[in-house]
Amino acid sequence: MTPSLDRLSQRNRFALLALTPILLLFILVIAFPPDGSERAQWAQFIGRFHPIAVHLPIAFILLVPVLELAGRNSRFVYLRPSADFVLGLATVSAILAASLGWCLARSGAYSGPLMTQHMWSGVWLATMCLLCWVLRGRLTGGEFVYSIALALTVGLMTWTGYRGGQLSQGEDHLTEFMPGALRKLLMMSAETRIVSPPSTATFYGARIHPIFEQHCFTCHSANKHKSNLRLDSYASLMRGGKHGMVIKPGNIQSSELFRRITLPATDDDYMPKENKKPLSAAEVKLIELWIAADASATLPLEAIKDAPSPTTAAAEVTFEKVDFAAVAKERAGLAPAVAQLQKRFPNLLDYESRASADLMFNASLLGEKFEDADLASLAPVADHIVIADFSRTAITDHSAAAIAAMKRLRSLRLVHTKITDATVHSLSRLDQLESLNIFGTRTTPAVLPIVAGLPKLRHLYAGETTIRADAPLPAALKDKVLF
Ligand code: HEC
Repeated sequence: MTPSLDRLSQRNRFALLALTPILLLFILVIAFPPDGSERAQWAQFIGRFHPIAVHLPIAFILLVPVLELAGRNSRFVYLRPSADFVLGLATVSAILAASLGWCLARSGAYSGPLMTQHMWSGVWLATMCLLCWVLRGRLTGGEFVYSIALALTVGLMTWTGYRGGQLSQGEDHLTEFMPGALRKLLMMSAETRIVSPPSTATFYGARIHPIFEQHCFTCHSANKHKSNLRLDSYASLMRGGKHGMVIKPGNIQSSELFRRITLPATDDDYMPKENKKPLSAAEVKLIELWIAADASATLPLEAIKDAPSPTTAAAEVTFEKVDFAAVAKERAGLAPAVAQLQKRFPNLLDYESRASADLMFNASLLGEKFEDADLASLAPVADHIVIADFSRTAITDHSAAAIAAMKRLRSLRLVHTKITDATVHSLSRLDQLESLNIFGTRTTPAVLPIVAGLPKLRHLYAGETTIRADAPLPAALKDKVLF
């Protein structure tokens, strides 16, 4: 009698132990649902293990009915008792997978109906596993109920997994390549997309939407709306994101979306993010022309006459303009200096692209360890550096001349450095500079006339300096200063 009582209380103890995190999960999912905002780096890091962890409960749950059924055969009776243990593992792993899933969704900017369904079915799946476990402990008379619960659990697991697959692989990942005949048999529509694409008779549908589809949907469509921005329909594009409208019809200058795709690729705000393939010059031009033509949804395709065709323009940009032999020759001249610097600063110096001998240098990764003397060592390649980031390094105004020697700079970032007006004054001859970031430095409004004189400058980032957002600006800097 005693041992069985003891076993019972052990089962109950496990049930209680598992119930606590499940209740906690319900609270998290209800009180802190994923809302499409990105946050909490740790949670996001941990959450990324969700897609790996989900395979555990899938395997364990599937194994339970296999053990139960096989155990009915007299040759395999010994299998049945182990079903209990496997069910316990299934419960624990389902709780773990659901918790990681919540971390991923809550911190990694997931939201939308698909996500909500997947999340809830994951939480209920963990609950069902526990219910099966409890029912299995009361087998006498309850075997039928247990079998039903187990079948439901397997069904729910399949559904949860399918929804998860849709989240990561796309909504039609299972049916995308289904042959037409089978599709007919199952009475599925020929078109599997949930949001139908816009008409290709319009400029927006034929030229603009495909650009977003190719470059932006991974982060800005139904299942992931980073910054609450969706680009998969005209209505959501025009609605904008967390910070309001991203397209101002007829006004390229104040269209946030256009600003982001035309920044230097090293800028934090640059889109597409995370080193995804940048838009081609032709694609940027198409978006520019479209916004200038009032960003209309209905404007016919032929209405914009001088629009570059994506194919010819792409060829022009990527092939015809590049003379690989000349690039190789130019690189050969630089090679010894580049190699030496790459050894001194691993991973900080690189060519801007495969088709160029221009260089990018990013010292911000070294932080305070990077000083004036280090910057001076870039002298041999100075006039090949087109993108430079010295943010948060220990450089001071002593580096002014060395920076000014980088005559072809297009993007320069000096965020949170000790530089002052003196350095900015020395930049007056950087006639290629398009973007200057002096955020968080001790610079003053006295630099504005110098910056205004830079012929190609498009953006000056002047937040957290003594330059005030509401102070009058030189006419040449209108709409170019960002705080
Ligand atoms: C790898 C993911 C990723 C890709 C791809 C991506 N974005 Fe983003 N986008 C983000 C994140 C994350 C944010 C929010 C952080 C920020 O503001 O920089 C964001 C924010 C934005 C915003 C600001 C919205 C607001 O109101 O705050 C715009 C506009 C934008 N993206 C446009 C685009 C465009 C256009 C593309 C395609 C050319 C694109 N993004 C591709 C991740 C991405």
